[in-house]
Amino acid sequence: MHSLGILLSGRGSNFVAIADSVDAGRIPGARISVVISNKADAPGIATARQRGLHALVIPSKGKAREEHDREVVTALKHHKVDLVCLAGYMRLLSPWFVQQFPQRILNIHPSLLPAFPGLEAQEQAFAYGVKVSGCTVHFVDEELDHGAIIVQKAVPVLDSDDEHTLAARILEQEHVAYTDAINVVLARGFTVIGRRLVTAR
Ligand code: GAR
Repeated sequence: MHSLGILLSGRGSNFVAIADSVDAGRIPGARISVVISNKADAPGIATARQRGLHALVIPSKGKAREEHDREVVTALKHHKVDLVCLAGYMRLLSPWFVQQFPQRILNIHPSLLPAFPGLEAQEQAFAYGVKVSGCTVHFVDEELDHGAIIVQKAVPVLDSDDEHTLAARILEQEHVAYTDAINVVLARGFTVIGRRLVTAR
């Protein structure tokens, strides 16, 4: 059985999408072992509790990055997590954290990387005037929104959009993309050549 650990900082809709996929059998052989938030008031952590999952708050405020990361990794290892899913976790991981789970940390980002890394990617894309945006699930490395790409989904930008309607259309695809990406990684039938993730036939 694969053991997923979810890290979040806010709303938690990607976490819920993953949890729904696990419950519905769309991620075979996986369970969510722990959900961790760095913010006590994250709605996602309340949802995790309501769903009967192990839910922990490990506050990051006032701590050095690696000090906080060590607490988080201790909790993940305690729950025997073998795949870490960042789901709106608004913290950069220290190199030390990344090294604890080689090719076992995933992140979702609401743009077609390498376009628009960082905060408010949907607003950045809308303001830039792109006609297509989307979302990316990628491995986490030491750089922000940077590791090898696992799944991308494209979303059209409509003339009638504002940044909110665009973000909502991207979010729908995020929820599909994360499950797809977890299945790719758990199936282990891939190799990463340079930056290119190639799935074995
Ligand atoms: C999502 O749109 C996710 O892609 C984004 O934060 C949102 C979290 O929503 N993540 C980033 O921007 C990471 N750079 P959620 O809490 O409802 O899943």
